[in-house]
This record gives sequence, C-alpha cells and structure tokens, in this order.
Amino acid sequence: MAHDTQTLNKNRMPLHPEHPVWVFGYGSLIHKVDFPYLQRRPAYIEDWQRRFWQGSHDHRGTPEAPGRVLTLIPAQGQQCVGMAYQVKPEVFEHLDHREKNGYLRIETALHFVDGNQPESERGLVYIAGPDNAAYLGPASDLEIAQQIACSEGPSGPNDEYVLKLAEALRQLDTEDDHVFSIESLLVKPK
Ligand code: BEZ
Repeated sequence: MAHDTQTLNKNRMPLHPEHPVWVFGYGSLIHKVDFPYLQRRPAYIEDWQRRFWQGSHDHRGTPEAPGRVLTLIPAQGQQCVGMAYQVKPEVFEHLDHREKNGYLRIETALHFVDGNQPESERGLVYIAGPDNAAYLGPASDLEIAQQIACSEGPSGPNDEYVLKLAEALRQLDTEDDHVFSIESLLVKPK
C-alpha cells in the first residue's frame, strides 16, 4: 500500500456531509488537538493495543532515517484507553492529511469511561497495518527506544512524541506497559 492514504481513506469510507462522527485517539490525538470538535470524552476500544511499530517519515523522522510512532495491533481481551472526539465530517480533511503516512480509518465500537450516557457509540480509529509501506513492525523495547532517541523530523524529536504521550496517558489515569517501558529506556545519544 502507498504511503499516502488520504485518497484511499476518502474513497473507502465516504462520510455523510451533515452527520457528526466520533473518532478515537490513542496517540498524539489524545493531546495534540489541532482541530475543532463538538464533544470530547475519554473512552476505550476493545481488542487492540498500542505499539511503536509504524515508521514516521513525515513527522518524527525522515525518509532516510524514519522515527517510530504508534499503531494498534489486534490483542484479544485488551482495552486501549484514549480520547474520543465527536467532529464534523469536514474535520477528516485535516485528520486524513495529518495521519496520511499509512493509516487507514476503520470503524469500531467506542466505550466511554466518564459515566455519562450514552455509554458507547460507533466511531472511527486510524490504524497502520503491516501491509503499508512505512510499517516497521516489532523490535525489542530497547531497540525501539534507541531508534526513537536518535530520530527527529519536521514535527520535532521522536522522543518528545513518547514523552508527551506518556504524560497524556497518566493524565487519563491509564497504564500502558509498552509505552511506559519505551519511555523508561529513552536515552539521548551524546
Ligand atoms: C491517534 O492518536 O489516534 C493516532 C495515532 C496515529 C495515527 C493516527 C491517529
């Protein structure tokens, strides 16, 4: 699959121009909210977990030296906690551009954790699967942390991406062994 998934996302999943849509953020969408939204509610999705397995050529690395950013991998029985936003459909022009490096939108159930009604809704989440050209796949936590520690791209240093994410997850009161392990192993090269 090509790196740039903007057209693919638009064609695979046309959105009704007047219907608001829920989108689930599990990475930078939790804390980098550079789009308007109608509602924001903490939520989880089931049977997925975060992994720094996606290469970043356009935000936190370069084509010659890609950084590592998050995707989700299937994980039966796991809950992935993040932030859900209800947005107008035109916001996907911006989000599809921002997350264009291999991410496809898929539909999923969102379960809200704020105790308000409704308790769940259908929504969309961006996932970069193993068939996209920027996919890097698994490596040890130490290898991932070392790659992140020395990568940098147009959006800034790759380690900043991890540190801000870890902080946002703490604010959501959620544990993520993978993210916190990588955070603990980050050491900047001298
Ligand atoms: C997110 O924060 O949900 C997200 C992460 C990577 C790509 C797209 C979205």
